[in-house]
Amino acid sequence: MTAADAPLLDLRDIEVRFPARHGTVARAVDGVSLSVRAGEVLALVGESGCGKTTLARTILGLERPRAGEVRFRGERVRYDARALRRYRREVQMVFQDPTGALNARQTVYEAVAEGLRIQKVEGDEEQLVAAALARSGLRPPERFFGLYPYEISGGQRQRVVIAGAMVLEPELLVADEPVSSLDASVRGEILQLMLGLVRETGVAILVVTHDLGLAWNIADRVAVMYLGRIVEQGTTEELLSSPRHPYTRALLSVVPEANHRDPQILAGEAPDPTRIPSGCRFHPRCPVVASGEAERMGIEARCRGEDLALESVPGAAAGSAHVAACHAVHAPGRVEAAEARARAEAAALPDAQARAAEAEARATEAEAEARAAEARATEA
Ligand SMILES: Nc1ncnc2c1ncn2[C@@H]1O[C@H](COP(=O)(O)OP(=O)(O)O)[C@@H](O)[C@H]1O
Ligand code: SF4
Ligand SMILES: [Mg+2]
Repeated sequence: MTAADAPLLDLRDIEVRFPARHGTVARAVDGVSLSVRAGEVLALVGESGCGKTTLARTILGLERPRAGEVRFRGERVRYDARALRRYRREVQMVFQDPTGALNARQTVYEAVAEGLRIQKVEGDEEQLVAAALARSGLRPPERFFGLYPYEISGGQRQRVVIAGAMVLEPELLVADEPVSSLDASVRGEILQLMLGLVRETGVAILVVTHDLGLAWNIADRVAVMYLGRIVEQGTTEELLSSPRHPYTRALLSVVPEANHRDPQILAGEAPDPTRIPSGCRFHPRCPVVASGEAERMGIEARCRGEDLALESVPGAAAGSAHVAACHAVHAPGRVEAAEARARAEAAALPDAQARAAEAEARATEAEAEARAAEARATEA
């Protein structure tokens, strides 16, 4: 692969660990490979604590991976001060909390001009700052120049942070929960602003979020992270219409935008990166295991003992990059039946039990049909 057709950002087998309490080690990022193409919006989704911020900081060079590499435009990122400064002109970060990201003693103008000065960007500073503010929706920009962070709203502060990043004309914006600290009323506006920037400037965005609903609204592709790993990845459409990993399916089941599914309750304790389970790291919470379906399918020992990598989802469109890490990925009907049974058991409701039995029958029928189709294909 030449540098020209390499992805913009390419992460390979990234591992980041932190010392944790009682001498244990938190495997915050535990083998992540992920790429972002020029001009696309990729959402990285997962529960709090699964390693999203650590991965974002690693992309920016704020954390050093203990293993693996970060490549930008085909070249390995280097961590000496000069190389990092050059790299940060191309890759900028938008943090969760704009109040923390801005210096309380700096005016809006100074905040946006700072990056230009650090990067020694040539040109008319005032014009560049004004253009960046206007592009971020702060108009007329001159009215904001002399204001301090406490004099503007939370949404306006995030616009200033975005202007400070975009003034450098980066190729990639890494946005860590960019709207979660904002009032619900302005979240949509900030997301629209970011999408507008993608259209106008071609910048790519890696947006980190715990909210799968937000991902549906803005991303081209989605990567789902669980306990330091990517467990499913595909186009937003693929993940919305045919999520395959039981964890993705559980996240999706509580998203209002996709409320055609019954809410899925996950069993077990919240995940802890100092104690990553053996085998599939999701197995202590997986409905396929909890419902006994994994045992019936003959995969339970593998769920508990055999670690696994992302593999292509069977039945995905040709050329699709829909991948998932699950031993049951070949039997979606069984996963659905397991979910229905887990729900029925949790609720102990007769109608939920009846629906579980129905799902079970549908899975058996679908499998018989698949076997018949296979037999027909072999004959032909
Ligand atoms: N600087 C740090 N020192 C020690 N542990 C950390 C540090 N940063 C993150 N962690 C741990 O790494 C795990 C992942 O955290 P984080 O990347 O912030 O997750 P997320 O952004 O998905 O909520 C958590 O268990 C967290 O406690
Ligand atoms: S591999 Fe097994 S435990 Fe893991 S998600 Fe798939 S069915 Fe559940
Ligand atoms: Mg975070």
